[in-house]
Amino acid sequence: RVFKIASIPGDGIGTEITSAAIEVLQKLAFIEGKFSFEFNHFDWSSENYVKRGWYMPEDGMDQLKKNDAIYFGAVGWPNVPDHISLWGLILPIRNSLNQYVNVRPTRILRGITPPLAKCGPKDLDWVIVRENSEGEYAGHGGTTHGHSSHAVATEVSIFTRVGIERIMRFAFETAKSRPRRKLTMVTKSNAQRHGMVLWDSVFAEVAKEYPDVQWDKMLVDAMTVRMTLQPQTLDTIVATNLHADILSDLAAALSGSIGIAPSSNLDPTRQNPSMFEPIHGSAPDIAGKGIANPVGAFWSAAEMVRWLGMEEAADALMKAIENVTEAGIRTKDLHGSSDTKAVTGAVCKELESV
Ligand code: NAI
Ligand code: MG
Repeated sequence: RVFKIASIPGDGIGTEITSAAIEVLQKLAFIEGKFSFEFNHFDWSSENYVKRGWYMPEDGMDQLKKNDAIYFGAVGWPNVPDHISLWGLILPIRNSLNQYVNVRPTRILRGITPPLAKCGPKDLDWVIVRENSEGEYAGHGGTTHGHSSHAVATEVSIFTRVGIERIMRFAFETAKSRPRRKLTMVTKSNAQRHGMVLWDSVFAEVAKEYPDVQWDKMLVDAMTVRMTLQPQTLDTIVATNLHADILSDLAAALSGSIGIAPSSNLDPTRQNPSMFEPIHGSAPDIAGKGIANPVGAFWSAAEMVRWLGMEEAADALMKAIENVTEAGIRTKDLHGSSDTKAVTGAVCKELESV
């Protein structure tokens, strides 16, 4: 079978890690022999935005829909304000293609020493389920009086029963599919007294359908402490768009580096292609140097392969990645001395033997 993959490298290290991921995916398909990938490349980036005045052409979404999945690098560059780039590319894709779940697994890959002793491989094994379509990133609000001394800006969060119910159900199903069957629901419903209170009540309703899942609730501020000091008490975590965005960067740091962490933007109805991307951004501080950690990109590629139904190939890729981290072939963010190319080459080589 041939899978059509839309590739959007975007900006900065997004382009470096996307080409590394494509190399690894091609190698994986070649070794496995049962499927292949046809990549459709889209040059939607901040550099081209400055030249053309748009990130995506008008029929961009239709072009993406012709693919089985989307592989995304990162968007954002100092030449364009970040809210323009985010709202020019990644957020419209997530919204238009009904990718209402963002799944962010975190664990300590073999051979990696986590920064905190408490967060060892046996302690930290989580899946963060991020609400990906509404909440704080709904984009509603406005500014009056421009940027004068009287300026007032509103940033309105939107929470709907439909939106909450579907993310809760996905989170419970995820928790149920994992050995510990444990779900922690995160809010800030003491201070945010409308939307977060609706989260609490819809959560309580959906929880009744899952008597075999053990659950608890946390306020997001206290959650940062629990993740850091009692990681072993957590398994599956569900949180809003903003809260989960922040918590997943913390999770990535606790697992070794932001350069490792993967994410899947899923349309669970499978009516639209889902999108796979490392959680990090374009990293202008290291872009162009060839030293970006490609592990988060490879792990995201493995999640894409799994979503497309090829479990064995996904497992093989994860094994190859971890053989390489264990062998000490790592980039600088993981205290190694290898560059992107060396890590990519090593993973391709490992694929021959796993
Ligand atoms: P960032 O994730 O790009 O970088 C944060 C820090 O982590 C930097 O020091 C960077 O060098 C390091 N880092 C990130 N990925 C790495 C990797 N693979 N290997 C080694 N080191 C890595 O976040 P930042 O600096 O806040 O944002 C930079 C730009 O990226 C902004 O324009 C921002 O809006 C955008 N961004 C885009 C995202 C997306 O496309 N989904 C997500 C996050 C940020
Ligand atoms: Mg983020």
